[in-house]
Amino acid sequence: VSERSAAQSGAEVLVASNRGPVSYAVGEGGALTAKRGGGGLVSGLSAIGPDTDALWVCAALGEGDREAVRRTGGALDPADTGGQRVRMLDIPAEVYADAYNGIANSVLWFVHHMLYQTPLEPVFDTEFRAQWASYEAYNTAFADALAETAAPGAAVLVQDYHLALVPGLLRERRPDLRIAHFSHTPWAPADYFAMLPDDIQRKLVTGILGADRANFLTRHWARAFMDCCQWALGPECEAHRPREKDAYLVSTWLTPRKTRIGVHGLGADGEFLRERAHRPDVGERLTALREQIGRTGGTDRKTIVRVDRTELSKNIVRGLLAYRRLLADRPEWRERVVHLAFAYPSRQDLAVYREYTAQVGRLAEEINAEYGTAGWQPVVLHVKDDFARSLAAYRLADVALVNPIRDGMNLVAKEVPVVSDRGCALVLSRGAGAYWELGEDAIVVNPYDINATAEALHTALSMDDTERSERTARLAAAATALPPAQWFLDQLRALKED
Ligand code: F6P
Repeated sequence: VSERSAAQSGAEVLVASNRGPVSYAVGEGGALTAKRGGGGLVSGLSAIGPDTDALWVCAALGEGDREAVRRTGGALDPADTGGQRVRMLDIPAEVYADAYNGIANSVLWFVHHMLYQTPLEPVFDTEFRAQWASYEAYNTAFADALAETAAPGAAVLVQDYHLALVPGLLRERRPDLRIAHFSHTPWAPADYFAMLPDDIQRKLVTGILGADRANFLTRHWARAFMDCCQWALGPECEAHRPREKDAYLVSTWLTPRKTRIGVHGLGADGEFLRERAHRPDVGERLTALREQIGRTGGTDRKTIVRVDRTELSKNIVRGLLAYRRLLADRPEWRERVVHLAFAYPSRQDLAVYREYTAQVGRLAEEINAEYGTAGWQPVVLHVKDDFARSLAAYRLADVALVNPIRDGMNLVAKEVPVVSDRGCALVLSRGAGAYWELGEDAIVVNPYDINATAEALHTALSMDDTERSERTARLAAAATALPPAQWFLDQLRALKED
């Protein structure tokens, strides 16, 4: 253990994120089993691999992780992490819960995805202030660990809204470091961000402005961040928008250095996905799914596929309502199409997520009861996270439905065209970051408009084979333009060059 811990100090490149590449569960007899972490951030960063020699600092998420930290001193066994050097921080459970569930997921996530519903939300009261203190403590724990482990002049890449204060805190501790922050989410428009208490707005933007580079998935989110800096800091903040495509500058006397704003649109890992989607476990799932979908009149039924965490921003309920509208308004599709809806429960500690998950299940049942027949189940809902089955669904997709209200990028929109066997029409929300890259070849929808989404599904299902395969080829090329390893190296290079 001590040898591993010692090997982790003096790191030249560090990555910091809430969720790490691996998470542990305690099995029978106290044995620990390691499972790969999920989500867009982990998929993107996993590509850094052991080659860059980066040290990944993350939080212990639950009891299994805490036990792993107790046994290893926090320096995880490389056998569990695919060779990646990982340091896991054991932040006290109650501090972690308030920071993660209370502030990160219930406040910052809601602000950036514009999910609040008046008249009850948001509530900024004494409980919020207590949770905010935990968020500061949690960010401080990361800043301390990074300050301790980084070699002189090291590059530190801090990830996401969980760690918005880390760049500023780390700068105070280690002015010698090169620091970047990456936002994997959208950034809220200034008018919406302004609902946060004034001091919190300032802390969030000055926290990120502690970095040398603040990076975003799209220019759209980068611009929103700059607007919020100007809104929250007023004349203290000066934003320069030079002509070059991706080199916006924000400077402020609060952080006498200039912070560069970068745009790095994470793409899909085409090579990995194509190979992974043809392994035997995916083949088995393909056969099982084909049976569930069934055939009608001697032909395969068409499929509309969605794969999401069951997340309010993903807009799964409106997606199902649009599918119901399609079946109501376009009876010619009855018996001829199946909606494969994979909705994997997420953040179940939060009541609003539990309720949303239940609502998705109820609605799928209602549609099946309303329209199903002896040989046809209109909605096939799967809730158990199974990557191989998701890939099998991608391969079968005639239509992919990606209709989030807002989404930093949405990798599903990029993965399906790469993997689909027959070519797939993409129904894509203009609220997804991916819209800015894939919009031309997708059928674009306003995510709030159920009838328009139903009509888009009809157009997608009706698309002729040639058009569909031509569009899919262009979508796949755009989707893989910046694969994860390159995405990471670009950020590292930019940080070192600035
Ligand atoms: O969208 C940003 C992101 O960090 C994704 O990587 C991930 O899907 C999600 O937010 C975080 O989810 P979780 O709360 O499950 O870690």
